[in-house]
Amino acid sequence: MEIRTVGVLGCGLMGSGIAQVAAAAGYKTIVREVNDAARDAGIARITKFLADGVAKGKVTDDARTKTLANLTGTTQTSELKNCDIVIEAIVENLAEKRAIYQAVEEVVRPETILVSNTSSLCITELASATRRPDRFGGLHFFNPVPLMKLVEVIRALTTSDETNQTLTAFATSLGKDPIAAPDRPGFIVNRLLVPYLLDAIREYERGLGTVEDIDKGMTLGCGHPMGPFTLLDFVGLDTTYYIANIMFEEFREPRFAPPPLLKRMVLAGYHGRKTKRGFYTY
Ligand code: CAA
Ligand code: NAD
Repeated sequence: MEIRTVGVLGCGLMGSGIAQVAAAAGYKTIVREVNDAARDAGIARITKFLADGVAKGKVTDDARTKTLANLTGTTQTSELKNCDIVIEAIVENLAEKRAIYQAVEEVVRPETILVSNTSSLCITELASATRRPDRFGGLHFFNPVPLMKLVEVIRALTTSDETNQTLTAFATSLGKDPIAAPDRPGFIVNRLLVPYLLDAIREYERGLGTVEDIDKGMTLGCGHPMGPFTLLDFVGLDTTYYIANIMFEEFREPRFAPPPLLKRMVLAGYHGRKTKRGFYTY
């Protein structure tokens, strides 16, 4: 199936990155947010990323102009009606995702492919909430989307061969290096990454070291680009908390359980960089 027009649901951390790479790859891209303020903030994030890219000599002025020309922000689901693929990147919550798929299915064509960027929810369960379980799949991008090469391609039990091939080819067309991942919570990368991040919080609560020293240990000692607390703030503590709950619900193993400190920070509104406060202050 040929993809020309891409819809993106949510223009937060991930949706803005996905919309940016789709527009940069030449697709007409329409990104939908819940209100004008969220839409404008998302488009402003993309504009700044591109401007920084130009300043660093990584993006040409021409590429920036073409990317922005391919991009439209909206608050209207009806504007997604001509999309060949719609990629959902809204909050990590099953009920919210189901509700938005229902709204999208009322406007798109029957052949349109629906995709979730979920970090941990079951793709088969999401697919079964739609009227097109064969034209549904998971594309799990990584943050920051324009810089991270990986995309996990996840097949629901119901995903057709054609949809799976189209999604893999689409990820490649965005300049990404896709891998096939199983429809299990956390897929491949988060299955290993999330317990590590949760363990860092648990050990910090037990007095292992300061936030700064633990981060320094993992960056300088292991060559990680970010220590666990910098990465937690970067991913979003709210999102990490939702992911941990979903993974714990599925596996019932203590290593996936959200640590008490994480829960309290989320309840206090300390969601990391996006709220300017998490393990660090920004
Ligand atoms: N436009 C284009 N290129 C840019 C850019 C921009 N706005 N900003 C930076 N770059 C380029 C830089 O020029 C640089 O390129 P070179 O390597 O060719 O020199 C490269 O991107 C790295 O940028 P910086 O040197 O400025 O920054 P950095 O070295 O601090 O790297 C980072 C930034 C890539 C984010 C790095 O810190 C990193 O990899 N962090 C870990 C991120 C990570 O683990 N993400 C996964 C999170 S988990 C997830 O996403 C899944 C989930 O479900 C929760
Ligand atoms: P975020 O909080 O930064 O953004 C979510 C955005 O979705 C918000 O701007 C919100 O206004 C918007 N939204 C909520 N309901 C909506 C609706 N009905 N229609 C349109 N927009 C709506 O979250 P995020 O970090 O971008 O995460 C989004 C999804 O991507 C989640 O499923 C998450 O698990 C997944 N994910 C996150 C990361 C990460 O590192 N943060 C990485 C990979 C995947």
